[in-house]
Amino acid sequence: MRLFTDDSSSITDPFLRRAWILARNGLGTTSPNPMVGCVLVQGTEIVGEGWHERAGGPHAEAIALRDAGSAARGATVYVTLEPCAHHGRTPPCVDALIESEVARIVIGMPDPSIVASGGAERLSAAGIEVIFADDPAPFAALNRGWLMHVRESRPWITVKLALTLDARIAAGPGVRTRISGPGAHAVTMRLRAASDAVVIGARTAIADDPALTVRDSAGAPASRQPLRVVLTRRTDPDGCSLFGDGHGQTAVLMPDGCGRAAPAGARAIEYDSAGGVTAAMRALAAEGIAHVMVEPGQTLFTALWDEGLVDELVLVHAGGVGGEGWTGSYTGSDGGPELALRTRMKAVEAEVVGDDAITVWTRKTQE
Ligand SMILES: NC(=O)c1ccc[n+]([C@@H]2O[C@H](COP(=O)([O-])OP(=O)(O)OC[C@H]3O[C@@H](n4cnc5c(N)ncnc54)[C@H](OP(=O)(O)O)[C@@H]3O)[C@@H](O)[C@H]2O)c1
Repeated sequence: MRLFTDDSSSITDPFLRRAWILARNGLGTTSPNPMVGCVLVQGTEIVGEGWHERAGGPHAEAIALRDAGSAARGATVYVTLEPCAHHGRTPPCVDALIESEVARIVIGMPDPSIVASGGAERLSAAGIEVIFADDPAPFAALNRGWLMHVRESRPWITVKLALTLDARIAAGPGVRTRISGPGAHAVTMRLRAASDAVVIGARTAIADDPALTVRDSAGAPASRQPLRVVLTRRTDPDGCSLFGDGHGQTAVLMPDGCGRAAPAGARAIEYDSAGGVTAAMRALAAEGIAHVMVEPGQTLFTALWDEGLVDELVLVHAGGVGGEGWTGSYTGSDGGPELALRTRMKAVEAEVVGDDAITVWTRKTQE
C-alpha cells in the first residue's frame, strides 16, 4: 500500500472502490487473515456493507449480508477478495451468499491460498454470475502482507532508514543519533501503526533504548500497539526500557537452544540462527505476523539486504552531513546500497515532510 497516495484511485467501479476502502478499516488488526471489504447493491443503492475486523471474527461478506437483511436477495455483491469456500473459524462465505440468493458477484482478486480458494467456482455452479475485476493490482497491494505470508511463509518487510546527506545513519558505532525531524517522526508512527510487528536489532535496542510504540503528536500511546520485537544472536538486550514500560507486548527473537531466557516482560520467539534473518522472519510468520516494519542499524540492514528481505524501503533523507567517523548504512559486498538500489529496486513515491524528504522504494519485480 502506498504511503502518500491513494491506491484505490485506480479502481474505476465505485462500489468495488467502496469495498476496498471498507477493507482498509482492518489495517493492522486482521493478520494472519487478509483485509476484506464487501458491499451489497440493489440497482444503484448500497443496501449492505461490511469489513473483516480481526482473525476469528465474522468475515466481511457475513457482516454485509446481515446488514442487508432481505435486501440481499437478487443483489450484486462487490467484494475485494474471492469469498472463502472452506470451514475455518467461521463457516464458508460462499454458503451464506448462495443461501441469501444474491444474483451477481464482482470480485477484486482471486484467493491464492490452497485452503480457502475455489469460492468463485462454487458460486458459479450455484447459478450466481461471477465477474473478476480487470486489474487485481490495488487489491493485491492492500493485502501484500497476507499474500507474502501465504506464498512465502514470511511477513512482508518494510525497512525504514534515516540518512544524512552523506548517507550516514549514526554518529558512530552504537551512538544514539537523532537524524530526522518531527515530520519524519509522524511518518514513522504511521508505518508502525500499519504493521503487525516492529523489529530492531539488539544493538540498536541497547544504543537507542527506544519505546518503539505508536504515539500521537502529543506523545500519547495509541490503543493498538504492534508487537515490539528485538532480534538477537548473542547480545543480551536485558534492561532495555521497552520490556518494562507496559505499552504493548514485547518479544525477543533468539536462536533456538541458546540457553538464555527472555528478559522479564518479554516472551521468547526462537529461530534457527543458521537460517539468518530469514529464519527469524519465518518464526514471526509462524506467530501469525504478516507485516513487519524493521528499523535497522548498519548490521541488520546489511543482513536484510544481502538475504533479499527488503520488500519496501522507506528512506528518510535529512539535510545535514555526518562526515568521517559516522556510520554508513551498509557494509556488505552488493556494490553498496546505491548501486544495488538502482539494479534491484525502484522509487515509487517521494514527499517532502517538514525539513526532510522521504522516498519509498519497492522491488522492480513486485509491480
Ligand atoms: N538512522 C537510522 O535509521 C538508524 C536506525 C536504527 C539504528 N540506528 C543506529 O545504528 C546503530 C546500531 O547498529 P548496529 O549495526 O550496531 O546494530 P543493529 O543493526 O541495530 O543490530 C544488529 C543486531 O541484529 C542481530 N542479529 C541477529 N541475527 C542477525 C543476522 N543474521 N545478521 C545480522 N544481525 C543479526 C545482532 O545480534 P548480535 O549482536 O547478537 O550479533 C545485532 O544485535 C546505533 O548507533 C543506532 O543508533 C540508526
